Amino acid sequence: MTVSTTAPSATAALWADAERHLVRYGGAFTPEIIDRAAGSYVFTADGRKVLDFTSGQMSAILGHSHPEIVDTVRQQIASLDHLYSGMLSPPVVGLARRLAGTLPAPLEKALLLTTGAESNEAALRMAKLVTGKHEVVSFARSWHGMTQAAASATYSAGRKGYGPGAPGNFAIPVPNTYRPDFTTADGCLDWRRQLDFAFDLIDAQSTGSLAACLVEPILSSGGIIEPPAGYFAALREKCRERGMLLILDEAQTGLCRTGTWYAFERDGVVPDILTLSKTLGAGLPLAAVITSEEIEQEAHERGFLFFTTHVADPLVAAVGNTVLDVLTRDRLDERARALGEFLRDGLTEMAGRHPVVGDIRGRGLLAGLELVVDRATKRTSDELGALVTRRCLELGLHMNIVQLPGMGGTFRIAPPLTATEEELSLGLSILDQALGEACAAL
Ligand SMILES: Cc1ncc(COP(=O)(O)O)c(C=O)c1O
Repeated sequence: MTVSTTAPSATAALWADAERHLVRYGGAFTPEIIDRAAGSYVFTADGRKVLDFTSGQMSAILGHSHPEIVDTVRQQIASLDHLYSGMLSPPVVGLARRLAGTLPAPLEKALLLTTGAESNEAALRMAKLVTGKHEVVSFARSWHGMTQAAASATYSAGRKGYGPGAPGNFAIPVPNTYRPDFTTADGCLDWRRQLDFAFDLIDAQSTGSLAACLVEPILSSGGIIEPPAGYFAALREKCRERGMLLILDEAQTGLCRTGTWYAFERDGVVPDILTLSKTLGAGLPLAAVITSEEIEQEAHERGFLFFTTHVADPLVAAVGNTVLDVLTRDRLDERARALGEFLRDGLTEMAGRHPVVGDIRGRGLLAGLELVVDRATKRTSDELGALVTRRCLELGLHMNIVQLPGMGGTFRIAPPLTATEEELSLGLSILDQALGEACAAL
């Protein structure tokens, strides 16, 4: 049963106020007012129940308002909420220790922050200080956040119109196996040649100040692109040769979503610095920068400063501890792996019915479905993606589509790790219907 808690006239008034008083920070707003969320669903003001296939902003890995998170927030805010930034508390020290326990050596020192951009900002500051250099290399379809250094390393959106980014930021091509640019004789992606060429260009442009490479192990905002096995080991080597630190941004992939605790486990490549955010707070603002004792020591000796209002805040650190409790106890890595297979089977079956499905990719519960209007030429249509997204929402499924030049619309499918097979089946059947109807309407 769906129950509306907001009268239609009140909803209209909210939209009027929104139009009058809110800054539009990312295009148009989703055309629904949400007044409640629970588990895998959000509930609209007019009483509709919508399946949340984006886990909020790719963050709510335990679903919305998980009872243990609710309890933690209630208890923690009533006993120790926020502190002077130089003070420590048990939830902060405990979370740092426990994060180290989930990670391979030498990642054992954590800095607890608030957002993904902030964690990358801090990681880059640390890399620059420790190497004494300032140049940063990232993927040409990256998203690392909206603050200065993070935005300067972000190439998938938001570069035009804001003046110069930080000096010394360079992009390398994304190893996209579905749309290969450098190819072998049989037409497959020749990622080694692509990577060599990329670093030839970096070396040509560098002033000799290469500090770090900041990359996502699976590009999410770039269209769910998973670099091939072997790529990160080769990238790590490129970094080593140049004295650069490798920073992996696991904002979306960290904490079990891809079927392992961290996506880098597949590659056997341990970064010098790891950043976590979205999934660590499972929807609450918590982020972490994790590095080795050696790098932390060097940074400290050089006067590392990242003193913010909400650094080491006990409230969200307590939430992080509960997130780790639930992930471990409920074995959500294994669950993400199994549900990921279930999801992929459903998507593959759907691809058999809808020729507009060009590619299905991703890992665990981070899946991508790329739409094309012609499978042979991989020709794209922005209109199709918009139509499918709109119809899904009408039918009760919230999906997010990435539209980038030269790519088809790619749906990012990232349900909570606590979702059930029934919920995934419901989402798949809505997507199936929306695809059918949108294609008929094109
Ligand atoms: C991989 C990645 N890194 C960093 C960020 C930025 O995080 P935040 O929006 O919390 O600053 C995002 C956000 O989408 C992201 O996907």
